[in-house]
Amino acid sequence: MSGYKDILGWLALHHEATHSELVRLISSADAEKLDYAMGLAREVAVDNYGHGVFVRGLVEVSNRCAGGCYYCGLRAENSRVRRYSLSEEEIREACKKGYELGLRSFVLQGGEVYDKAEMMARVVRELKAEMPDAAVTLSLGEQDAEVYDLWRQAGADRYLLRHETATKEHYARLHPARMTFDNRQRCIADLKALGYQVGAGFMVGSPFQGAEELAREVEYLVGLQPQMVGIGPYIPQCDTPFGDQKRGSVEQTLLMVALTRLALPKALIPSTTALASSDKQGMTRGILAGANVVMPNITPQQYRADYAIYDGKKSCGTEAGEGLQRLASEFQMIGYEAVLSRGDHADFVKR
Ligand code: 5AD
Repeated sequence: MSGYKDILGWLALHHEATHSELVRLISSADAEKLDYAMGLAREVAVDNYGHGVFVRGLVEVSNRCAGGCYYCGLRAENSRVRRYSLSEEEIREACKKGYELGLRSFVLQGGEVYDKAEMMARVVRELKAEMPDAAVTLSLGEQDAEVYDLWRQAGADRYLLRHETATKEHYARLHPARMTFDNRQRCIADLKALGYQVGAGFMVGSPFQGAEELAREVEYLVGLQPQMVGIGPYIPQCDTPFGDQKRGSVEQTLLMVALTRLALPKALIPSTTALASSDKQGMTRGILAGANVVMPNITPQQYRADYAIYDGKKSCGTEAGEGLQRLASEFQMIGYEAVLSRGDHADFVKR
């Protein structure tokens, strides 16, 4: 039986570990093991991307959603949400302001709706025409392949669609019957086939998840080879069916970020808002665990409180230059620097 250092070292070198090794590591993790995993993950991140952290401007374009995820405050069944959708003009304005601050990467994120495909295509086309040196990432849930194709043709570079869990039975416990694991996987396959840089991801500490499920996340990601992976702790939202479940642990989230970095050395891994919302040092701890992306919120201020996926969501915004400055100085304190370029995955860098 090999020790945890051997297992982590092997994972760093060969991007594999046996299922039982992963389960054992995850279920026996303590401060010392976490520290070691984070140190290795950090080295791998620095080897691939240096001490830079890519900054993306996040625009929460709409909180309307047809989905029914039991964990999410924006689920269609939650009637306590004040619903909003930004106009085309508002989305473009938000990005333009970000562009003036120096940002060259934008993420348009929103709930799942099916009547805005043409509008979003127009927005993407206009953004790409106005700022050709910026990358546009969409995160608008499950759609038909035709819609993903339309958006890709319009110029979208990347798409974030967390797979949520690699375990089919687990997926069924987190979602109503109208949402299926198979359709989620179909969407991810379509996005890959269309040439998007694809982002997968999962929550840590979601209800019914244990070390077995977490080990399978690592294995799934190695098989999928996504360009981006979003990982954050589960945080209860009081108006959802899971409102009284316990929150995911920050330390376990950091461990999963580190394992993901070791398994996918070149991945773009954000230090998520959920992590920052769970711990004062969450953002920088994520980077020290191997994350290399942050996504400050550039949504117009008046809408931010309504994008309440979970309770106590931090709105680490950067609507003004000071926001970016603050971010940059937080990076500096741990020896990193903000990078405002497109921030493509190493295999997608245009030559
Ligand atoms: N806590 C943490 N993360 C959540 N998400 C949704 N609800 C929650 C929650 N309560 C994550 C999901 C989703 C992404 C938009 O946010 O993984 O894909």
